[in-house]
Amino acid sequence: MANPLRPAILAASRSPRVKSAITHAPGTRSLVTRFVAGESRADALAATRALLDSGRSVSLDHLGEDTTDITQAKVVVAEYRSLLGDLGALAEAGEAGARRLEVSVKLSALGQALPRDGDKIALDHARELCEAAQSAGVWVSVDAEDHTTTDSTLSIVSALRADFPWVGAVLQAYLRRTESDCRDLAGPDSRIRLCKGAYRESASVAFQSTAEVDDSYRRCLTILFGGDGYPMVASHDPAMIDAAGAEARRTGRGPDRYEHQMLFGIRDVEQQRLADAGTRMRVYVPYGAQWYGYFMRRLAERPANLTFFLRSLATR
Ligand code: FDA
Repeated sequence: MANPLRPAILAASRSPRVKSAITHAPGTRSLVTRFVAGESRADALAATRALLDSGRSVSLDHLGEDTTDITQAKVVVAEYRSLLGDLGALAEAGEAGARRLEVSVKLSALGQALPRDGDKIALDHARELCEAAQSAGVWVSVDAEDHTTTDSTLSIVSALRADFPWVGAVLQAYLRRTESDCRDLAGPDSRIRLCKGAYRESASVAFQSTAEVDDSYRRCLTILFGGDGYPMVASHDPAMIDAAGAEARRTGRGPDRYEHQMLFGIRDVEQQRLADAGTRMRVYVPYGAQWYGYFMRRLAERPANLTFFLRSLATR
């Protein structure tokens, strides 16, 4: 995609030696703080308050993925429950109106990849979080991970929606299947976050060129805006932001019937511009100590990030 080195960076990021080198490199921390709100929940809540004050909404992500044991999955659930308690208190104190607060969860962090009953464990954990979120008046969306998890993730989302119809799903425009998933999921009240996709995928399942991914994103926008759901346009790309605006005009959707979403630390001025213009703008705010996978996906997305990172190493 935009960065020709992206597949190589994502492949290298799986190596334990690369992980150790990057995690301990002297320049890493300063760049991580550009994309991650901090390691503690207090850091995440401080970032949340600032974003709310600026007129933006938030979706908080407790960083972590690929949980390999049940104990760790339970630690993740406990952290999300504490976070939901804090967000509920914020809402009750009048600091955030209805549904300006959301959490995003990765099912792999909740146990989806565990060898025995992973799907069921992840569903039970996600259900527990949805119950807590409902009491707190907070929304939940389920992140999209690599394509081997898509069927499992969408079926868990569908099971959750039977009891919690407001649960959001994430679809990745780079996957060849996504147009069809958009058609299936564009029904009444369905909240769909459309992103381009951040993992390393082969040509058999995913479009490889920027132009193909962008075309797919536009086709998916047309389906979602033409449906009865609530499209969440997760992109920093000015062309996709314009395309969403055009779809809203074409389909007569007011600004309360869709939203834009961007990642913490990316195109902050544009985030504020959209919020000030009266468009709903939600910022995805990651926090926690397990920032490595998230950070590497951000490095891989943009050559300039990698250059900046390498330069910061060289100047030490
Ligand atoms: P594109 O990559 O073309 O970037 C457009 C412009 O945005 C760039 O020119 C640059 O200005 C800016 N930009 C983009 N990435 C940047 C970066 N890392 N650093 C600095 N500037 C950058 N993916 C996934 O697979 N599963 C998921 O669940 C999610 N969830 C998610 C939620 C939200 C709210 C967002 C915004 C994104 C995701 N993603 C994701 C990530 C997504 O798939 C994608 O990798 C990034 O958003 C980058 O794609 P863009 O659409 O922004 O376009």
